[in-house]
Amino acid sequence: MRRPLVLGIETSCDETAVAVVEGLEVRSSVLASQTEMHARFGGVVPEVAARAHVEAIRPLVHQALAEAGIYSDQLDAIAATRGPGLIGALMVGFAFGKAMAWSLGKPFYGIDHMEGHLFSPRLEFDAYRPPVVVLLASGGHSQIVSVREWGDYETLGATIDDAAGEAFDKLARFLGLGYPGGPAIDAASQDGDPSAFAFPRALRDRPFDFSFSGLKTAVVTRLEQAKEDGTLPPRADVAASIQEAIVDVLVDKTFNAVEATGARAVAGGGGVLANRRLRRRFAEEAERRGIQLFLPSPAYCTDNGAMVAAVGVDRIEGGAPPDPLGSDVDPGMILGA
Ligand code: KG4
Ligand code: ZN
Repeated sequence: MRRPLVLGIETSCDETAVAVVEGLEVRSSVLASQTEMHARFGGVVPEVAARAHVEAIRPLVHQALAEAGIYSDQLDAIAATRGPGLIGALMVGFAFGKAMAWSLGKPFYGIDHMEGHLFSPRLEFDAYRPPVVVLLASGGHSQIVSVREWGDYETLGATIDDAAGEAFDKLARFLGLGYPGGPAIDAASQDGDPSAFAFPRALRDRPFDFSFSGLKTAVVTRLEQAKEDGTLPPRADVAASIQEAIVDVLVDKTFNAVEATGARAVAGGGGVLANRRLRRRFAEEAERRGIQLFLPSPAYCTDNGAMVAAVGVDRIEGGAPPDPLGSDVDPGMILGA
């Protein structure tokens, strides 16, 4: 049987991303990154993001259709991110998707961005299926999810303050490494010594939860002390030590959840999973335990339209009704809540 051909639109933060997916096969996936625009401000400026989405969305949709080699009337459905994210940014992609669905007379599906990240390994791995423990770590959210079935999620733990990506972004800004911080710290850490500084690993007594807000204070205090003592190490060592502190916690807590659930598979999604050190540590730990590991390629860890379309495909194949065109974005939605 022919599988659904779905257009996915993602505009929850600072990437306008559009993809055409057939079943779980990506026919095209394109994006317009606003990184340079926001780098000047050291972070995402919501109004700037929304306006940039308005400019980028139409040409990107055309590009995605052209690269997939299809006309819009061949689509079976349109899917767009409903939340969580920046309200103005979300509204652009969501409204565009609904308008397109209306004009083509096709069903429309509003998608949870974090479920998109959770689905992203499906684009590349046939063997990725429940039961599995998934670490979702992005710029705004960090959680560990036990997937019992597609659509049946139990959040075992989450950050109690900053998201992991947010911690990377804040600390990179502090070190003067620019925005976005994750890739900058990843790069700056390459020749660094991760044991130069033993930064704190918070919430040791809570097996599945994270806390990253104290890390910045710890880093600032330790660096000031080192400067006073004249023992300030190279920036690469500081970056590598920060990265190690964040990665350690993410790996420990995720594998605590693997152990507690008895899962034989572990996966990840969200921009932070593009981190090279985190990927290596996940690979080592999964191998040591003899369990399967599913990490998307970096381009599918960060925001993309294909993951949104993939959730749409699953909805259609599961017989879920489309969302009404009167439905709205939900900036604060929480997966599994
Ligand atoms: O999922 P994502 O692309 O957008 C959101 O949904 O937020 O995640 C973006 C986050 C940013 O905080 C960024 O710094 C982080 O992912 N990130 C990384 C890396 N690449 C992106 N963090 C660590 N290492 C990376 N290589
Ligand atoms: Zn994301």
